[in-house]
Amino acid sequence: INSEKHLSTCLGALLSRGLKSLSPVLVPLNLALHPRKDIMVTASDDHLWKMWAFPNGNIIMTGEGHTDWLSGCCFHPSGTKLVTSSGDTTVRIWDFTKGECILTLEGHSRAVWDCSWHSCGDFVASASMDNTSKIWDINSERCRYTMRGHKDSVNSIEFLPFSNTILTSSADKTLSLWDARTGLCAQTFYGHLHSCNHATFNMKGDTIVSCDSYGVMKFWDVRRVTPMVSVDAGPHPGNQVVFDPSGHVVALASSDGTVKTLELNSGQLSSLVGHEDEVQSVVFDHKAEHLLSGGSDGTVRLWS
Ligand SMILES: *[C@@H]1O[C@H](CO)[C@@H](O)[C@H](O)[C@H]1NC(C)=O
Repeated sequence: INSEKHLSTCLGALLSRGLKSLSPVLVPLNLALHPRKDIMVTASDDHLWKMWAFPNGNIIMTGEGHTDWLSGCCFHPSGTKLVTSSGDTTVRIWDFTKGECILTLEGHSRAVWDCSWHSCGDFVASASMDNTSKIWDINSERCRYTMRGHKDSVNSIEFLPFSNTILTSSADKTLSLWDARTGLCAQTFYGHLHSCNHATFNMKGDTIVSCDSYGVMKFWDVRRVTPMVSVDAGPHPGNQVVFDPSGHVVALASSDGTVKTLELNSGQLSSLVGHEDEVQSVVFDHKAEHLLSGGSDGTVRLWS
């Protein structure tokens, strides 16, 4: 890691309340960006989600109802609703205009690690420690499919935008692609030597990046089964990984307390230093002018 070459500087810390990690292997804090506005939601282990404006850091709304820590959160494509997942085994849908939880989805037998909203707004997907993922039909308020195949906890889930493809990552060291119309596994990617904590598509949807509990990132062509490139950003766990909107930069939330950025053209890996504990979540804003990171030190930091 070349620490001389930090082009980014921390602009400020938005949160001040302590959000202590319950367990070092878990992901207690997640950030989600509004589909268009400079608004984010944090999901935290105090059982709440909070909606913030940035860069000023004003709290707009708080959601209370889950009975255990929150893991994932994701905006409805219109920006009017939110889905959250929790250690209380439920997935909840929140309506901002009503200011309340309008639906509680029960069915997972263990903690739910992550959730994602389909681009049409009618379906959400959830990933659980019970080794399954589920697709929920929001209109009929039912579980449409339970996706079985992973042999250990499913740690992350996301829809490829404007498609019926779902990507999961698991503690069984694999990633899988699923067809949301059938609930069946279409492809499994082998190569990680450790538990996969997160995986995501680039904006084009042709490349996947994943990270594991030893800080190794792997890049995959969705049409091939073997990884194209591996980048060792360890030995600390990588908790979440994202592409910037251009697809040329990847940011990794690391348990060593830094955000790692990788420029794909040059291969240069840098560290953003500022958090005082593990970094759990990273997200680029819409214009990629800012990077937001959330950590177990209870802060969200905004980087230029
Ligand atoms: C999930 O997988 C783990 C590891 O293979 C296993 O020990 C556990 O029993 C499984 N849990 C369920 C609910 O099937």
